[in-house]
Amino acid sequence: EIPVNQPDNDKLDHLEPHKEEAAGAFMTTNHGVKINDDQNSLKSGERGASLLEDFILREKITHFDHERIPERVVHARGSGAHGVFKVYESLSEITKAHFLSDPSLETPVFVRFSTVAGSRGSTDLARDVRGFAVKFYTQEGNFDLVGNNMPVFFIQDAIKFPDLVHAVKPEPDNEIPQAASAHDTFWDFISLMPESAHMIMWVMSDRAIPRSYRMMEGFGVHTFRLINAKGESNFVKFHWKPLLGVHSVAWDEAQKISGKDPDFHRRDLWDAIESGNFPEWELGIQVVPEADEHKFDFDLLDSTKIIPEELVPVQRVGKLTLNRNPDNFFAETEQVAFHIGHVVPGIDFTNDPLLQGRLFSYTDTQLIRLGGPNFQEIPINRPIVSVHNNQRDGYMRQTINRGKVSYSPNSLGDGAPYQAKAQEGGYTSYPEKIDARKVRARSKSFFDHFSQARLFFNSQSDPEKNHIIDALSFELGKVKTVAIRERMLGILSLIDKSLASGVGYALGLTVPQQPEQPINHSYPADADPKDYQPVI
Ligand code: HEM
Repeated sequence: EIPVNQPDNDKLDHLEPHKEEAAGAFMTTNHGVKINDDQNSLKSGERGASLLEDFILREKITHFDHERIPERVVHARGSGAHGVFKVYESLSEITKAHFLSDPSLETPVFVRFSTVAGSRGSTDLARDVRGFAVKFYTQEGNFDLVGNNMPVFFIQDAIKFPDLVHAVKPEPDNEIPQAASAHDTFWDFISLMPESAHMIMWVMSDRAIPRSYRMMEGFGVHTFRLINAKGESNFVKFHWKPLLGVHSVAWDEAQKISGKDPDFHRRDLWDAIESGNFPEWELGIQVVPEADEHKFDFDLLDSTKIIPEELVPVQRVGKLTLNRNPDNFFAETEQVAFHIGHVVPGIDFTNDPLLQGRLFSYTDTQLIRLGGPNFQEIPINRPIVSVHNNQRDGYMRQTINRGKVSYSPNSLGDGAPYQAKAQEGGYTSYPEKIDARKVRARSKSFFDHFSQARLFFNSQSDPEKNHIIDALSFELGKVKTVAIRERMLGILSLIDKSLASGVGYALGLTVPQQPEQPINHSYPADADPKDYQPVI
């Protein structure tokens, strides 16, 4: 039996005390003084001047002046909803995570869907990756599955993430284009980054223009670990399968919708939930025993690869239902802070270098986005279990910690928390053996950039293949620098000749016989490049 700090299992109840009901109440200042006129400032005489003394005017304007916080550096545009998750049958054979072991338990969740590149006010129908972030408020603390609607990623190592994002965001001189990848800097970067070939196939496919958030798959992307009570580890990939099926719009529709209703996905999600038409997904897992780590022709730690479902089928193990809209967009959807590092006992990381870098990035960015080290106290971010530790103070601290002991070890006791043993639910990291030289390098097992890009292209029906060719022709057609278009054709020719020639024909360019070698400075000057990157 796992001891819990607080057996109450309802996140919505936890949010209740923070809600404000203004109907029928007096208007007050922030300090509780009743206001008798908030429409006229205090003046010396009816025609002014206004008086500095007017605390009602000053407070109202000051608060307004500070209403905005920075938008997320990526995934700024999003929509959220509350819901529940239930596992179908106990997964205790492979994980000790309590919420995956008890089929009678309904775990509250908050989900945020997003686009990646556009700003907060950008259109929902941009050709882009969609974020699919789920916060499970479990009785052992929060578990966040921070995924996307595509199972792979552009880059293999998190150190490239700022470059990727600088390339995809609007160009820095004129802040154009908003929420679209059709521009020189993006394709310049992609054409020099062959590891993005597989992801580019997904992003140029219909998957990048979903019909609805309710009709998208979700993927944890990285390989994670599940750990059972005996301490045994299995590798796992997480999937979300929408019960409405996967549906997209055509590019022409996407462009028209963007013009007519940039809130199309946001409205669709909101309306569906308001009308009781609750969106549902099944949680899927692909499980790979520890012993099979090296049996594939790709590396499980490489986030540009899927595990083909023919090799390891997806088992559907539980259901997510979104059943309530937020009360306040800012308080919930904007202030929610997901982090891939929020795990519970029974779920652990692997050495995927993209995953490892993300573990640093999320809290770091939230420290500035949400104004300091206490954003975990914001109601939407609080776990349903109570929090006890020796962390103290900082901007906007809400908790009133009692007693004089805020350190350990201590002999004064005084209500200090104790550290839980593993059998009491204390988190213990999987003791993976690591014994290697420190190198700034990547493994040769990460070098095959094209097989799975080709696999994806060939898995598409003829109309879907044409959509990919059309999308690439449209996007590359916006690129001003001809050398970038040509370099991209070289990359495409390594995926599929008909793909490259189709795009080449649309652009009026010949596909290069010999694709250009990518420029990559991420290896030491005196090293043999072959040891660091594939020669194409
Ligand atoms: C935000 C997914 C890679 C840094 C997000 C969000 C999602 C997501 C879904 C939005 C969360 C929300 O709704 O609030 C992914 C996936 C990745 C990936 C699936 C690759 C598999 C990375 C990498 C980095 C990174 C490599 C950095 C090294 C960020 C940052 C945010 C973010 C800084 C903004 C977080 C915030 O302001 O709260 N990511 N991401 N991501 N991601 Fe990623």
